[in-house]
Amino acid sequence: MERTFVMLKPGVLQRRIVGEVLRRFERKGLKIIALRLLLLDRATAEAHYREHQGKDFYEKLLEYTLSGPVIALILEGEDAVSLVRRMAGPTDIREAPPGTIRGDYACRTRLNIVHASDSPASAERETALFFKPRDMVEWKDENSPWF
Ligand SMILES: Nc1ncnc2c1ncn2[C@@H]1O[C@H](COP(=O)(O)OP(=O)(O)O)[C@@H](O)[C@H]1O
Ligand SMILES: [Mg+2]
Repeated sequence: MERTFVMLKPGVLQRRIVGEVLRRFERKGLKIIALRLLLLDRATAEAHYREHQGKDFYEKLLEYTLSGPVIALILEGEDAVSLVRRMAGPTDIREAPPGTIRGDYACRTRLNIVHASDSPASAERETALFFKPRDMVEWKDENSPWF
């Protein structure tokens, strides 16, 4: 099973839609392995978005990311990285179709409300910024009627 890192950006908390967004991942059958509510500090936000340093949207992106609390979580499932990217929708909001999180809840690329790792390597790197190994909760649901 693959794991991916997701961050609900401050807009999700500000708009009180945490439950709506998490519900989509749960209903799909993804398993929550770790979950944290936190206010990021600038150093962590910079580390998280280091690949974008120097780009024209970088400062605004940091400003938004630091504008309120975020929810960081680890989701587990088959091909979780690409699945969650598809559920989030394309980065460019003009390309994000209805039915995706960004397509349904956002109308500006900068405020596209969710982050999802773009590869297993990114997932590992990003997970380490937010979680310690002991924060991961291993649980089994082999007897669940869903699976
Ligand atoms: N052209 C842009 N204008 C404004 N904000 C952008 C732009 N490109 C990316 N961003 C912001 O930076 C974040 C990180 O960009 P990127 O890693 O390319 O996208 P993704 O979040 O889909 O992986 C995006 O989610 C978005 O909030
Ligand atoms: Mg990215």
